[in-house]
Amino acid sequence: MKGIIDNTATEQTMPRHIAVVMDGNGRWANKRHLPRAAGHKAGVGSTRKIVEHCAKKNIEALTIFAFSSENWNRPKSEVSALMALFVSTITAEVKKLHKKNVCVKFIGDRTRFSEKLQNSINDAEILTTDNSGLHLNIAANYGGRWDVVNACKQIAEQVKNNKTSIQDIDETMFDSFVSLSELPAPDLFIRTGGEQRISNFLIWQLAYSELYFVDTLWPDFAEDDLDAALTWYAGRQRRFGKTGQQLMEEKVAEN
Ligand code: IPE
Ligand code: IPE
Ligand code: MG
Repeated sequence: MKGIIDNTATEQTMPRHIAVVMDGNGRWANKRHLPRAAGHKAGVGSTRKIVEHCAKKNIEALTIFAFSSENWNRPKSEVSALMALFVSTITAEVKKLHKKNVCVKFIGDRTRFSEKLQNSINDAEILTTDNSGLHLNIAANYGGRWDVVNACKQIAEQVKNNKTSIQDIDETMFDSFVSLSELPAPDLFIRTGGEQRISNFLIWQLAYSELYFVDTLWPDFAEDDLDAALTWYAGRQRRFGKTGQQLMEEKVAEN
């Protein structure tokens, strides 16, 4: 059942869905007097480790922010380096992910990408579509505002064609039109690199996520850093608007 209407998550000590803003690649490279692209390349190593670790820990879904709709504003040379890295990384990694039973999906507006990149994306999704392991969602040319507007457009189209009525629009219905609607909402949001902001990531889906910010730069982020985030998460009390007292009473009533 979807996260926004699924309060059973209160009792979970392990997140079902983790969302990550993988930030700090540029600063990691700067510190080493390397070009920013070297930081992005090093970041791929962390991504691989974290994906594998999540799969091993039986996390249901991992959604990673690879390229935001605002990242087109970066210098042309950095954008080109990132696009080239996406193609080479997807090509090199997808077979390994498939062997690990990972189901890969991309969210965001892919139409702005080169044909080559769009083909790699489509191939990766098709190859892994039936896999029953970790759901790995890669946000590429993704923006949370775009996602919400896109949902509005689809619903407006349905109203126009008399497939639905305005009265039928509620949060659950709206939710079915945004990205990742087939998954529970992220329980845990992690941002590396020290900034404490969402940067237009999953603005609708993160409404009730636990937010974890860490100074570690993404290329330095490893398995034990994820474990630290998981330990922190296990200590949260997710109240979903209720009081702590109510949750305690519910727990007593269950046992
Ligand atoms: C995140 O690292 C990766 C992308 C945005 C593609 P940055 O490149 O933003 O790294 P910093 O924030 O400049 O250190
Ligand atoms: C967010 O990081 C996007 C990704 C990690 C892909 P940015 O580094 O682009 O975020 P801002 O612009 O500093 O907020
Ligand atoms: Mg950044």
